[in-house]
Amino acid sequence: MSTTPEPFIGEFWRGVRRRVEEASTTPAIAYTSPAFFAAEQSAVFDSAWVGVACLDELSGSGTVLVRSVGTRSVLITRDKEGTLHGFLNACRHRGTELLPADTDGLSMIRCPYHRWGYGLDGTLVATPRFTDVAVEDFDPNDYPLKRVRVDTFAGLVFANLDLTTAPLQEWFGDLGERLAGYGLQGWTVRESTTVEIQANWKLLSENFQEYYHLTWVHPELAKVSRVKDHYRWQGPGMYCGQTTTPVSGDDRSDWLAMPPAPNLDSGDATSGRFLALFPNVLLSVLPNHAFVIQLEPLAPGITRERCTWLLPSSSHAVSDDAFNLTRDFWVLVNNQDIDICERSQRGQERGGFTEGRYAVRFEEPLHRFANMLADRFDRIERIPPGDDKFSARRFGDGDPTTPGVAARQR
Ligand code: FES
Ligand SMILES: [Fe+2]
Repeated sequence: MSTTPEPFIGEFWRGVRRRVEEASTTPAIAYTSPAFFAAEQSAVFDSAWVGVACLDELSGSGTVLVRSVGTRSVLITRDKEGTLHGFLNACRHRGTELLPADTDGLSMIRCPYHRWGYGLDGTLVATPRFTDVAVEDFDPNDYPLKRVRVDTFAGLVFANLDLTTAPLQEWFGDLGERLAGYGLQGWTVRESTTVEIQANWKLLSENFQEYYHLTWVHPELAKVSRVKDHYRWQGPGMYCGQTTTPVSGDDRSDWLAMPPAPNLDSGDATSGRFLALFPNVLLSVLPNHAFVIQLEPLAPGITRERCTWLLPSSSHAVSDDAFNLTRDFWVLVNNQDIDICERSQRGQERGGFTEGRYAVRFEEPLHRFANMLADRFDRIERIPPGDDKFSARRFGDGDPTTPGVAARQR
C-alpha cells in the first residue's frame, strides 16, 4: 500500500473509530478537499479491489475497456482463450497511452506513436522498424504490457493495483456465498448509461447504504421497498448490505414486471439485496434483474456513475415494455438520490459543516464503511466482521427506540 501523507491518518479518524452509538461521521474535509482526494486515490483506490466492468461487457470479440483505477489508467481485455487480463495503459517503448477509451473489435492493441503492437494477452508482438539498426540486448518477451490483477465476482470484473491485497473472494468474505443462488456470472447487460454527478463518491455510496431517507426522498420507492421490510444483511467482508423482504407489489408493480430468474430459493425469490461493495460498486439484486452502479471519483465534488441493468440469461426475450418499466423506475429513484447527494455536497462545501452523527437504526452500515475507509488510510489490513447472530435479525421491525435494538448494536 502506498504511503499516506499526514494529516489523514490516526487522529483524523478519531470520531469515526468510536462505537456507532457515539461515533461522529467522516469529517467534511473528506468530501471537499483536493488534498484528501489525492490521498484517498492513493490510500484507497490504489490498493482496493475496484469494480471496473460487468463481466458481460467483455463478451464481445476484441473488446478492450479503459478504466481509471486509483492513480492509474488500466486496460481490461479478454484474450482468444477467454482469459481476462488487466494492463497499465502505457506503451513499453516510450510510455504513450495506448487507448483513450473503450474500443471493440481489436485483435491487437497498437500504440499510435510508433505502432508497437500487443496481443490481448499483453505480449509484445509488433515492433516495426525497431531493428533497422541492430539493438543490443532486446528481447520482446521482456517488454509485455505491465500487468494489473483482475478477477471476477458476482458477474462483475474488479481490478487491483496492489499485489499484497487479499484475493478478491477473500476481500468480499461471505458475500459470494450469499449471492451464489442468483448465478450472477451468467447475467447479461440489457442497458447501460453514464452520468456525471456533482457530489463526492462517498456521499453516493453512503446514501445508498441507508434507508433513513427512504420515506422523504423516495415516496414511490417506499411503496415497493417499505421501510418496515428492511433489515441488515452483512456478514464478514468488505461490503455493507441491507435487504428488503418482501419486494412489495401491493401499491406498484414496477419491479415485478419481468420474470424472475429460475431456481431461486424462497429468500432470493422475494427479496431485494442492496450491497455497497467497498469501495466503488453499488449492487442492487432483485429476483428478476440487477442494477449496478460503478462509481468513478473524478474530483472531490464530481463522480461519474456507470449504471448497468443486468438480466438473468433466461430473460433475454423480455419485452421492451416490461424492461422499460423497471428501468424508468430506477432512473426516477436514482435521480432523486443524485439530487439529494448534490445538495448534500453543497452543504459539505459551503455550510460550515464539520461532522455529524449516525442514526443507529438506519446508518450503522455508514459507520462500517467509514471504518473500512479509515483502515485503508491507517494501513490496517482488516476484513470487518459481520453482524452477530442477534444483530443479524431484522433491524426494521418495531419501534426503533426499543432497548432491544440498541442492545443488538456493536
Ligand atoms: S511510444 Fe509506443 S510505439 Fe513508441
Ligand atoms: Fe435513496
